[in-house]
Amino acid sequence: MSGKKIAVASDHAGRELKDDIKALLIERGMEVVDFGADSDESVDYPDFGIALSEKVSSGEIPRGILVCGTGIGMSMVANKFRNVRAALVGDLFSARMSREHNDSNVLVIGGRVTGKDLAFEIVRVWLDTEFEGGRHQRRLDKISAISDK
Ligand code: RB5
Repeated sequence: MSGKKIAVASDHAGRELKDDIKALLIERGMEVVDFGADSDESVDYPDFGIALSEKVSSGEIPRGILVCGTGIGMSMVANKFRNVRAALVGDLFSARMSREHNDSNVLVIGGRVTGKDLAFEIVRVWLDTEFEGGRHQRRLDKISAISDK
């Protein structure tokens, strides 16, 4: 995946890694929409997770990457949104599976958990892996059905 629009956002705990990932995405020729945070001042991660998730949920931006301290809070926020399939990933196998089996459209990384080099590899694998469809689509449809309840 390159030459496509992608969103990034973080809180203060994820800001440094988010900015590093943003640079990687730009290097890959992607158009990056950055929803902040822009400084290390303490902020509330839902504010930034919501801003990004709204855009992915509406389809305005196809994919996004969220970073907070552990990745847990951002995952909770993002998965509240219809059409958002957020995956908290800290290893390369899960990065690949989150695409092949779960068609994740939001990647979440813990900035206080995952080092920069591994985070970069996770982002590359996540961007370059396609969804397999088939039986996995049927399973995703069952998750979407819950959102309609
Ligand atoms: C901020 O201290 C921290 O709670 C936040 O970055 C995140 O880890 C929440 O899940």
